[in-house]
Amino acid sequence: MANFKKIGILSSGGDAPGMNAAIRAATRRALSQGLEVVGILGGYAGLLNAADEADLDVVRQKYLRPLNSSSVSNIVTRGGTILYSSRCPEFATPAGMDKALRACERFNIDAVIAIGGDGTFRGATDLTNHGIPAIGIPATIDNDISATEQTIGFDTALNTALGLFDALRDTAESHARCIVTEVMGNKCGFLSLYLGLGTGAISIAIPEVEFDREYAIKKIREAREVYGKRGILAICSEGMPKMNGKNFGDDFKDEIIARTGIDTRFTNLGHTIRGGNPTLRDRLTASQMGVEAVNRILDNQSNLVMCVHENRITSFDINYALTLDHMYKNTLKDGELEKFTAQEIARMKAHCEARQAKVERLYRMAYDISM
Ligand code: F6P
Repeated sequence: MANFKKIGILSSGGDAPGMNAAIRAATRRALSQGLEVVGILGGYAGLLNAADEADLDVVRQKYLRPLNSSSVSNIVTRGGTILYSSRCPEFATPAGMDKALRACERFNIDAVIAIGGDGTFRGATDLTNHGIPAIGIPATIDNDISATEQTIGFDTALNTALGLFDALRDTAESHARCIVTEVMGNKCGFLSLYLGLGTGAISIAIPEVEFDREYAIKKIREAREVYGKRGILAICSEGMPKMNGKNFGDDFKDEIIARTGIDTRFTNLGHTIRGGNPTLRDRLTASQMGVEAVNRILDNQSNLVMCVHENRITSFDINYALTLDHMYKNTLKDGELEKFTAQEIARMKAHCEARQAKVERLYRMAYDISM
């Protein structure tokens, strides 16, 4: 076992239901192994602010909160994050890293567990490279970390949105309307795709698959004219490009009205699906990842991101996971693959192909069975 005494836990980026379950699990596991735990408040910014704050009471209240077993009682049920969150561009600068390292040294933080999305993991890998071992836990409603089949918060956001879509269906049905709804997800269409299938939407627009507007309009027209459908749902992902200076969905709504005559509204679920009590699935995944992250630190491992792969909790090297993510999103930088072996690159390619094939299969299926 490595000679760690104190770990810091932080959450960063967009909050996601289940972050608290991960914080609880990591805290309790670490305490049970004789480690001290400190919660870093407000993401990486908490670390930076703590570096030079002279008043130790302020540090404890605002930036670094010692966590004991009771500090994490009754949080497994709660959405959001008790450690708060932020996006912290300063952390990515050399001056920001200097401050973070100063804070770790000053408050004896030996290792960090960072809960969040890809920006969070870039921070974790920077910390590791500067001598503070760090492990990432993927938590974002977007499910846009390609190395993992499931991010913490995705399942809850889906279930929260399902309730909202059921409500939209009631009003669409009452007024014989089509409702085009935008769903968060950043550049990733998983939320929209799963919701499209789960709500029986007639059309789905996501960045990963070319959107066939003609076909979508034809399906919507047929639903009304051939099958007499009153309430019609269409879903579009936040990541779709703007059209005619408007949100994609807002523009599509105008096209539906112009070309089918169906009374149509556009709405945006926005942040409503980012909060709320985590589902059992998110609590389970978060708890296992929290415990396993601590186990890895105790095992002297670092620069890893916890993942669900082939339905198992496992971990990948963060650099591998980030490059795999860039490969999937077609955002590889020049020379980025050079540090990987041919075998690793082949594994990444297979992983990306399987992910894309899954998206395309579900997308086709959603259209096939919608009416
Ligand atoms: O990453 C989670 C997410 O909710 C995305 O779906 C969305 O694009 C983004 O965060 C919104 O960020 P903010 O809450 O900072 O506006």
